[in-house]
Amino acid sequence: MTVAASPGNLAGIEESATLGMTARAAALSREGRSVVSLSAGEPDFETPEYIREAGVRAIREGHTHYPPAAGLRALREAIAAHVMDAGGAPCSPSEILVSAGAKQVLFEAFFTLFGPGDRVLVPAPFWVSYPAMARLARAEPVIVETRAEDGWKLTAGSLEEAAAGGARGLVLNSPSNPTGAMYEESELDSLVEVAERHGMWIVSDEIYREIRYREPYASLAARRGEYERIVVVDGFSKAYAMTGWRVGYAVGPVDVVEAMTTLQGHVNTNTALPCQYAALAALADEGARRAAVGAMAKAFAARRALLLSALERVPGIHPLPPDGAFYLWIDAREWCAALGGDSEALCYDLLENEGLALVPGSAFGVEGYVRLSFAAADSVLEDAVDRLASAGVRILGGGR
Ligand SMILES: Cc1ncc(COP(=O)(O)O)c(C=O)c1O
Repeated sequence: MTVAASPGNLAGIEESATLGMTARAAALSREGRSVVSLSAGEPDFETPEYIREAGVRAIREGHTHYPPAAGLRALREAIAAHVMDAGGAPCSPSEILVSAGAKQVLFEAFFTLFGPGDRVLVPAPFWVSYPAMARLARAEPVIVETRAEDGWKLTAGSLEEAAAGGARGLVLNSPSNPTGAMYEESELDSLVEVAERHGMWIVSDEIYREIRYREPYASLAARRGEYERIVVVDGFSKAYAMTGWRVGYAVGPVDVVEAMTTLQGHVNTNTALPCQYAALAALADEGARRAAVGAMAKAFAARRALLLSALERVPGIHPLPPDGAFYLWIDAREWCAALGGDSEALCYDLLENEGLALVPGSAFGVEGYVRLSFAAADSVLEDAVDRLASAGVRILGGGR
């Protein structure tokens, strides 16, 4: 049976490529093939015990009714305090919207701030959903290329050039999925200066902020006092291993938060109330919070080191050491050239021949690269390196 969707509503919207590759890997596993899947952007850790307990307690205590559309007041207060503790400009609960994950709140920010005819600048490589979110808002996503020489970061020069055609918005993502690149204070200074001159809204996706391998972290939350057209998005999925609980939030000007809340009130009201209580508990005990987030960040750092060192023995691919998040952005142009195909052809080759699932750079708007997620146990990563080594020999031939 086919479902007749309105061509207007879903024009140009395709299934997320990361989901596609994960589904193909799962299908091969079901057929009995040995498959290592490093395509998903999901921490492999359990949600910390003290947070899970708080979720169970919330259910037992009867917090099972409709949540307020903007989110539990106590949670918004805790988030406001947390944002300020991390160096953010003063903010109140009325500047916070809680949502079903960063994904929903990003969509609501796009839908509220951008509309027909608006150009939204999306630096590539980009997280797969930004262009789709702009299109769903009837805005035009304008992809702005970044360069390896600039660490895959947007420069003020290219922002200025892209803004010349007119732009209502800019999306930044630091640390970045897929590259792991993190902006410096000075880089943000010059980007905000250009954005402000053009009156652009900046949506800053900081979901990987707590998983980083160098200091200091430069957050746009710190600049909200100087420039008001900033919406910062964060959430609990990555740093707290809470992907399934679906809790994220936005920090923005009161009128924008109110408009986003109205939208959310018509769409899903809010994320489940017990999940909001669990998120509240995640922030309430600073000692437990630091210990839990710190342990996961440390494990990611160890895996990052393991992979960077092990991949040195694999010919023809070059991973970029990430500043944050849990992905390796790998230059695989030599392998693509040897195969005579693009990054998607390479990923399907790796999946079919080596049983290894990665995500093609094309999904993030850049050819010749692949993304490897290191949200997996050491033994799985070591297995993946063996499979890559075997691919290297096969693809490049015996001459190397
Ligand atoms: C850059 C980026 N932003 C947002 C999200 C969505 O996170 P959430 O689980 O909070 O919806 C992801 C998840 O993969 C992501 O990588």
